[in-house]
Amino acid sequence: MKIEIKKIRSLGLLLFLGFLSHNTLIAQEKKMPVEKKWWKEAVVYQIYPHSFKDSDGDGVGDLKGIISKLDYIKSLGIDVVWLNPIYDSPNADNGYDISDYQAIMKEFGTMQDFDALLKGMHKRGLKLVMDLVVNHSSDEHKWFQESRKSRDNPYRDYYHWWPAEQGKPAFRPGSFEADGSGWRYDKTTDAYYLHYFSYKQPDLNWENPKLRQEIYSMMNWWFKKGIDGFRMDVIPFIGKDTSFPVITQEELDKKYEGRWDIYFASGKNLHSYLQEMNKEVLSKYDVMSVAEGAGMTKATALNFVDADRKELNMGYHFDGVSLGYLPGYFKKMNPKWSLVDFKKIYSDWDAVYDEKGWGTVYLGNHDQPRMTSRWGNDSPQFRELSSKMLTTFLLSMKGTPYYYNGDEIGMVNAKFDKIEDYRDIETLAEYQRLKNTGGDLKQFIEDQKTGGARDNGRTPFQWDATKNAGFSKAAPWLNVNKNYKTLNEAAQEKDPNSVLNYFRKMVKLRKNNPVLVYGKYTLLDKDNPNVYAYARELDGKKFIVLLNFSDTDAPYNIGFSTLKSKIILGNYKSWKGIKANILQPYEAQIIELK
Ligand code: NOJ
Repeated sequence: MKIEIKKIRSLGLLLFLGFLSHNTLIAQEKKMPVEKKWWKEAVVYQIYPHSFKDSDGDGVGDLKGIISKLDYIKSLGIDVVWLNPIYDSPNADNGYDISDYQAIMKEFGTMQDFDALLKGMHKRGLKLVMDLVVNHSSDEHKWFQESRKSRDNPYRDYYHWWPAEQGKPAFRPGSFEADGSGWRYDKTTDAYYLHYFSYKQPDLNWENPKLRQEIYSMMNWWFKKGIDGFRMDVIPFIGKDTSFPVITQEELDKKYEGRWDIYFASGKNLHSYLQEMNKEVLSKYDVMSVAEGAGMTKATALNFVDADRKELNMGYHFDGVSLGYLPGYFKKMNPKWSLVDFKKIYSDWDAVYDEKGWGTVYLGNHDQPRMTSRWGNDSPQFRELSSKMLTTFLLSMKGTPYYYNGDEIGMVNAKFDKIEDYRDIETLAEYQRLKNTGGDLKQFIEDQKTGGARDNGRTPFQWDATKNAGFSKAAPWLNVNKNYKTLNEAAQEKDPNSVLNYFRKMVKLRKNNPVLVYGKYTLLDKDNPNVYAYARELDGKKFIVLLNFSDTDAPYNIGFSTLKSKIILGNYKSWKGIKANILQPYEAQIIELK
């Protein structure tokens, strides 16, 4: 039965329909019960170790630093920590270039520190999810060092090589290279090797069963140590057409919507590898797995996460975070991005998992600008309100929320003024490319302040108002945001209305109300350009979430009255909206319908 909420006018009718929709829900549940899992109920908190807390005064965050903050992490109420890569690495791409999968990066500490961290987390009931980066390794990994020595080296087929006598290989993009090429010529064996990212990150050859077994045994080794899951870096890229055919832009547009990431991800063996990985590793433990879904589309998502296929648990898509980028520029944000489109993206993705699989929601991570700067408003007037509003969104949607460290205190973009302040390989490569091609460098720096520069989301965590924001005794590897004296964790601990304490309340609300986890999601007032409104309902319990994404008062029309209802959480002290169907700037309300 389809209920058109807009037609509801009177309370009587509302109650009647409430009864009907309640029964519809139960019927739905009977038809397709959602299997309960800890990772569906979890709130995941992502820690970027470079920038979280430095314990030894070298300006780089480390494991002992994280250990010193475990009580803080626990106090947030979250369940799972996802750690960006902490393995040994020359750090061309901040740990996404691994030179030893079973050792800890020197800057971060030792394996003993890791064991202590895991123990400390488990003691507090927290789970630890590691980053699995196996589309590529570092060029300093011993496999690659061997592989490049000779064409008949036993490790040769651990990577993708193209003999130079066959001519230049067909174009493949290398994301972090100024010339854009994903092939690099290597003199020793007169051959090119493939790297979808920087030349320091050669792609591993998943066609080789020996390589796959090495990866599975490494994964098993970490699980035996007791970790609770993996976030899988660009995992759809492991399946690729290794005959490397020429592909023209026209073919790409026709077959793959012009998206290289889809093309990378469409290798015919991808899902047999994931099924093999599940059988050899994941199925043996009660752990979670989440794909970084580069190239994952609404049409293909269930191929990864339909439980019957025995592959992965969840994936995260890029449609949300790609919204608003102006075509023809490097991640330049259109300040007039459309909320209607935003709502459509999240609603359509919710529908993907209506009957099977399970979704995720996120607005920021180490590859994105800060969520408040991008989707909210980082001006002093609206920073706090808008970050609370976005937190309300993340923690009231269906799907497991992935929440990025620093967002809980409302950190915002660093907005560096000069290229020398940037550290990120991606930004530096793009700057170099522009320089080589005579692009507008000044405009580029301006665009990075609101747009894509990943360093915006990577500045050190602002713990307090002391030097370097209490992150480190030494000058940090990346400058601290200048606003740390007023925007920091210590100050917010003291204020019951702070962004931080709002986050804690919101986490608690989600944990105490299964309707926010498993409840059906329905978009309301779909075409409202300023307000995102939706219902969540389960077992007769119905929550309405109202979010104003604009800096002015915004009316809304959800088709029925909320007068008799109770606001259970909101980011304003006085609530206009409940009377007038108007939300104040960046207002968020969660209402329980009675
Ligand atoms: C995705 C990661 O999130 C990003 O930080 C990294 O640069 C690329 N994958 C390459 O590993």
